[in-house]
Amino acid sequence: MASRLLLPLLLLIPLLPPAEPKLSVDYYKKTCPNFAKIVQDVVVEKQLAVPTTAAGALRLFFHDCIVGGCDASLLISSNPFNRAERDNEVNQALPGDAFDVVIRAKTKLELECPGIVSCADVLAEATRDLVSMVGGPYFPVRLGRKDSVESRATDVEGHIALPNMSLTHIIEQFSSKGFSVQEMVALTGAHTIGFSHCSEFANRIYNFSSTADYDPTMNPDYAQGLKKLCANYKNDSTIAAFNDPMTPGKFDNMYYLNLQKGVGLLASDQIMASDPRTKPFVDLYAANQSAFFEAFAHAMEKVSVHNVKTGKKGEVRRRCDAPNTLQGS
Ligand code: HEM
Ligand SMILES: *[C@@H]1O[C@H](CO)[C@@H](O)[C@H](O)[C@H]1NC(C)=O
Ligand SMILES: *[C@@H]1O[C@H](CO)[C@@H](O)[C@H](O)[C@H]1NC(C)=O
Ligand SMILES: *[C@@H]1O[C@H](CO)[C@@H](O)[C@H](O)[C@H]1NC(C)=O
Ligand SMILES: *[C@@H]1O[C@H](CO)[C@@H](O)[C@H](O)[C@H]1NC(C)=O
Repeated sequence: MASRLLLPLLLLIPLLPPAEPKLSVDYYKKTCPNFAKIVQDVVVEKQLAVPTTAAGALRLFFHDCIVGGCDASLLISSNPFNRAERDNEVNQALPGDAFDVVIRAKTKLELECPGIVSCADVLAEATRDLVSMVGGPYFPVRLGRKDSVESRATDVEGHIALPNMSLTHIIEQFSSKGFSVQEMVALTGAHTIGFSHCSEFANRIYNFSSTADYDPTMNPDYAQGLKKLCANYKNDSTIAAFNDPMTPGKFDNMYYLNLQKGVGLLASDQIMASDPRTKPFVDLYAANQSAFFEAFAHAMEKVSVHNVKTGKKGEVRRRCDAPNTLQGS
């Protein structure tokens, strides 16, 4: 009799998910008590020396998290046998200084508490510190992510929005990862800092259509300024424009105010100010910076735990640019 009852019970047990180790803000409290201070010191020094670091790190972090979770897979270098995420076309413009700030912090952490702190946690913490440092909101970063043991350029396909995609496509991409339209609009407020290269918006300012030289949704003075700036972009691929020309280095809600005036740089930015699905949120964040900061902070917290690997699902890499199996001992 008893065995008849037990059998179905035993079959049920494997279906229960194993207890997942949870992330927590004080994950390194005992094992690396100076974690936050070490990261903060490196971030401040780097950002003062190279003010483009914050924007670079924010984009790096987003691109890492949205492809297979926040697991520092984007920090792995390619080798003769494998092309890594980093070498997918959409990631090629990520600035070296963004990688460098993580490597610097990781190097110091390895001296103080070897083998303890993951590269994914360093990137998450450094990004939060950098966003706050340039004027953006503070948000808690829960810790305990593990690093991936692999990285493939092909895994990036279809996960990262491009400026020439339709808004419908972009909304679908975000929603497939659990982000609402409102969260998408808030996250894209990240374009209040940093640069975009001319090739990302050239189609809007040169030979736009048979009837218009530049995109008519653009402010005319803005379009003229960009045409001048980018005149030689085909020869010089390094030419880039500020995403937010009004307050380029400050994390604020100017991005949304710009959109209302036709001063959005990417087609995917500008469309959000007119499409009825996104316009209400653009108008809200343009009118109320606190509302933007609150929404951005919440959405970033959500990004920062997206698909994270914990427990045995990953490793703590000794070096951020290669999985441990490929590192000498
Ligand atoms: C709506 C979809 C989005 C599209 C189509 C998009 C596209 C782009 C493009 C094309 C660039 C210029 C890259 C270059 O030329 O170097 C850029 C820059 C940037 N993006 Fe986005 N992005 C989107 C959403 C986001 C989100 C959600 C974040 C972060 C939360 C973000 C953060 C950044 C930052 C900080 C930069 C400046 C990078 C730098 O100065 O180095 N973007 N984005
Ligand atoms: C969008 O741009 C990418 C890369 O710049 C290009 O490969 C793709 O064909 C473009 N898509 C459309 C729909 O124009
Ligand atoms: C725009 O079109 C004109 C005429 O077809 C051409 O000469 C010019 O090179 C084009 N400009 C760009 C930036 O593609
Ligand atoms: C671009 O480079 C080509 C070849 O290097 C040169 O012939 C051309 O004059 C350059 N164009 C501009 C606008 O500088
Ligand atoms: C702006 O947003 C904040 C945060 O959501 C809210 O508390 C505040 O009441 C809003 N201010 C106005 C003027 O609506």
